[in-house]
Amino acid sequence: MSKSSKKPVVVYGASGYTGRLVCEYLREYGIPFIAAGRSKEKLDAAMQANVPGIETADFEVVEVAHTTEALTALFRGASVVLNTVGPFARFGPEVVQACLAAKCHYTDTTGEQDWLITLDQEYGERFANAGLLLSPGLAQMYTTGEIAAQLCLETPGLDTLDIAVFWGGSPTIASTQTILVNAATSKAFYLQQDQYVEWQPDAGLYHLSIPGQHEAALALPWGGTSHPVWFRRDPRVANVKVLGGVFNKPLMLGVPQIVAAALEATKDLAPDARYEALAKTAAGVMNTMPPRENPRINKSVDSVHASGPLGRAHCVIYGNCNYKQTGLLQAHAAMSLLQQAPLRAGFASGCQAFGHRELLGVLRSFGLVQPPVITVHA
Ligand SMILES: NC(=O)c1ccc[n+]([C@@H]2O[C@H](COP(=O)([O-])OP(=O)(O)OC[C@H]3O[C@@H](n4cnc5c(N)ncnc54)[C@H](OP(=O)(O)O)[C@@H]3O)[C@@H](O)[C@H]2O)c1
Repeated sequence: MSKSSKKPVVVYGASGYTGRLVCEYLREYGIPFIAAGRSKEKLDAAMQANVPGIETADFEVVEVAHTTEALTALFRGASVVLNTVGPFARFGPEVVQACLAAKCHYTDTTGEQDWLITLDQEYGERFANAGLLLSPGLAQMYTTGEIAAQLCLETPGLDTLDIAVFWGGSPTIASTQTILVNAATSKAFYLQQDQYVEWQPDAGLYHLSIPGQHEAALALPWGGTSHPVWFRRDPRVANVKVLGGVFNKPLMLGVPQIVAAALEATKDLAPDARYEALAKTAAGVMNTMPPRENPRINKSVDSVHASGPLGRAHCVIYGNCNYKQTGLLQAHAAMSLLQQAPLRAGFASGCQAFGHRELLGVLRSFGLVQPPVITVHA
């Protein structure tokens, strides 16, 4: 394929639940793209059956091996790679290295804190020096909550973020694997006076009072989340704690047991064998593609209490269809990067790269979130 004929955006993992939603929104933005993945057959089937309006999209399907060399050859001549192949701590390094080699901006849909820390520490500077964006975690979890936090921080003098994130619906196959593998193999951190502090690993479930309902919600540190990593680079913020989960209480009650059992059963295995065993356990929990999201069922609540010595702010964003929010945010990032440089090169969150008001506007204009509810006492 000659450089000039190369489509500018590559969706890697386009056959997946999230990848095909990214393709759907790229079509709506009128952006030509390559739908890439490990199986041409699965990619073709996903495009034809799961991307509404695909007959009017400017795209091609490319099967590619999951190696840095093959991915570099595919990415060369493109400008932006949108990666949806997770767990990212396991499958991400080849994709990031290929982006650097092919000089492409990189975004992904991770919620894995350890993957963010790795990218920040090992790749951020190299991407910055190349003038490229490295933006892991541009996704409902946790960009929507980040927008809420940034809205609170428009009030000066607030240095502490207490964040809750909740969603309703079924996790996808890779999401279930990611949640389990992440919970079983990596530490979770919160931010205290700009330092990472480890959550107590077996503290059990937290009972949260979240906006919009009387019943207490059950929550977990959920792997620490992306916020402590993003806000560690924000001079306004010193402390960040995040708790989250799904609205489904029986599922939340089961999560600590499933994780503890998987941890115990795999603790003596070598890393590869351990991953395979954990992926198998995850497949026992979820091994089918969930249905297309339904706004009456798939709801999201992102709530941020921000405080400082003499001020408080609270922001809630009620939304729906988390995976759609994720697909849209990814497509919007591609559209923006094809037209102008990001606000910050190197390692940056979605809000740091594109602006929180802009991303809020995008989610609002596609009907995926309500207007934020903001209360300020400062
Ligand atoms: N933070 C958030 O809000 C958020 C939102 C959405 C997704 N995510 C994350 O994004 C990731 C993808 O989620 P999903 O919903 O799209 O899951 P999915 O439907 O299971 O799709 C996974 C994709 O990865 C591909 N894949 C899996 N193993 C691979 C391998 N060894 N080599 C190459 N490709 C491989 C699959 O290809 P095949 O089709 O060939 O199997 C498929 O395209 C997960 O880690 C999930 O946690 C996060």
